[in-house]
Amino acid sequence: MRDKALITSALPYANGEIHLGHVASTYLPADVTTRYLKMKGVETYFVCASDDYGTPILIQSEREKKTPEEYSAYWNKRDLEDFTALDINFDLFSRTSSKENTEFVQYVFNKLNKAGYIYHKEIIQYYCTNDKKFLPDRYVQGTCPNCNATNQYSDLCERCGSVPEAIKDPKCVLCGQAPVMKPTKHYFFYLKKFAKSLESWLDSNPNLQTDIKKYVKNWIKGGLVDWDITRDITWGVPIPLSNATDKVFYGWFDNHLAYISTTIKLLNEKGIDGKEFWNSADIYHFIGKDIVYHHYLFLPAIRLGIDAEYKLPDYIPTRGHLSLQSKKISKSRNWYIGLRDFLKTYPADYLRFYLLFITPHSQDDLNFDLDDFAARINSELIGNLGNFVNRSLGFTTRTFGGVVPEPNNMDSEDEKARQAIMQISKDMDTHMESHHTDRALKRLMEFSAHFNQYFQHKEPWKDKDAGRSCIFYSVNAVHSISLALYPFIPNAAGRIWRQLGMKQDITSKSWKQISTLPIKPGHKLGDVSPLFKKVDTDDIERQKRRLQEH
Ligand code: 2FM
Ligand code: ZN
Repeated sequence: MRDKALITSALPYANGEIHLGHVASTYLPADVTTRYLKMKGVETYFVCASDDYGTPILIQSEREKKTPEEYSAYWNKRDLEDFTALDINFDLFSRTSSKENTEFVQYVFNKLNKAGYIYHKEIIQYYCTNDKKFLPDRYVQGTCPNCNATNQYSDLCERCGSVPEAIKDPKCVLCGQAPVMKPTKHYFFYLKKFAKSLESWLDSNPNLQTDIKKYVKNWIKGGLVDWDITRDITWGVPIPLSNATDKVFYGWFDNHLAYISTTIKLLNEKGIDGKEFWNSADIYHFIGKDIVYHHYLFLPAIRLGIDAEYKLPDYIPTRGHLSLQSKKISKSRNWYIGLRDFLKTYPADYLRFYLLFITPHSQDDLNFDLDDFAARINSELIGNLGNFVNRSLGFTTRTFGGVVPEPNNMDSEDEKARQAIMQISKDMDTHMESHHTDRALKRLMEFSAHFNQYFQHKEPWKDKDAGRSCIFYSVNAVHSISLALYPFIPNAAGRIWRQLGMKQDITSKSWKQISTLPIKPGHKLGDVSPLFKKVDTDDIERQKRRLQEH
């Protein structure tokens, strides 16, 4: 682990609200890792941006009679508000259409071009004679030649997942007229030239997930395809060549470069040399498995093509997809729950806890089940952790006037409790360092369960005097829980911290303090009250009905 880290999470398209499916695989694990590394004393920054370009955004803005600038600016602002409501704390949330990114993308293109990694080639494209426009990607709908599903986009069939060579019965999405085929010249990135260097990068990086590496290497063996990096539309980063003013860059050429340009912007504003920081930090790109190709091949190849002037990622934590009530999440079929909507009913901590609890560091898909959500919050977060915190702090308040007593008559259980406190941060480190955030959280729940049993066994309510050690260690365990919980559910962690009566801010504390006993006899607790309210099953039934009625 280096003493600097730069964290990114996949950039959300500026095209509609953030829903539960977005947050599980990338934003939450990235936020937890950022908070954890900051507590470890690693100088860490977490950057993201809205992905402003692409034909779906242009088409939707045209439908809503807005300029694409206005349309994407709206979603940029809205997305940031929604992320903030979930306590996702970016150090900077920028835009791919920012001035900084535009300049950087053009710089990268020029450098690739000079190095001979770009070529110009004629291709045949759909063209609408009515709208007088080329029709890339989402501008054409038709019937999938593979599964015969109608109304599918020319670049992707949503039913069978295939990327058709040529869609049947193509129609312009703007006017419905059948397009003609017309030649146009595009710029291509020589991805093929990078097969060897990508392979050796994959081989030399021990931090990438092995199963993913395996199939990415198979893709390379199967032959890479050069990327068409331009589009005949007006919404995108302009191509810095005088004979290409009618084209812009394809969104996947510019979007990942915003990881770098956003970092440089953030750090330069802080007076830090952004490039030097980037090249001496651990670089993490958190993604969902649908964009493996882009992050394990295309993005590293572009960085290699500019002489790794900005180094390649050290980690690409890749996670699976979330389904909802065991059905694939789909915006178009209205099978999703908006983040903003969900947070109107449930606190951010509940959603963070549940998603982090069920999301492994693997490509396995996971399922958001409303009954399971209620059960886990009620039994784990509230029944286990909330119960232990409240019973130990509540008992100290009622029996000792909120003043932590001197431990006495230590027995083997007290000693085990002390050891558990000394051990917990290291055990969680092992999981966090290998990106198993779910396992780290579960280890913390075991710790809490252990203390619940300890408290139950020691029965301090029977003999106030004999129970002093139990109270002393329990209150210190609550201190450990508060700090260890902070990366996962920062709001509840802060409330526990205040109930403990701690003077300094929780954010000033470090990870290693988890395994200490800083609460001394005589320490006065703050005001103690129950931390959480149970999830009501009637509410859950209402949520299910709303989902069906969508
Ligand atoms: O798939 C998506 O949602 C893209 N907007 C992700 C972009 S990540 C990047 F910029 F590399
Ligand atoms: Zn048309």
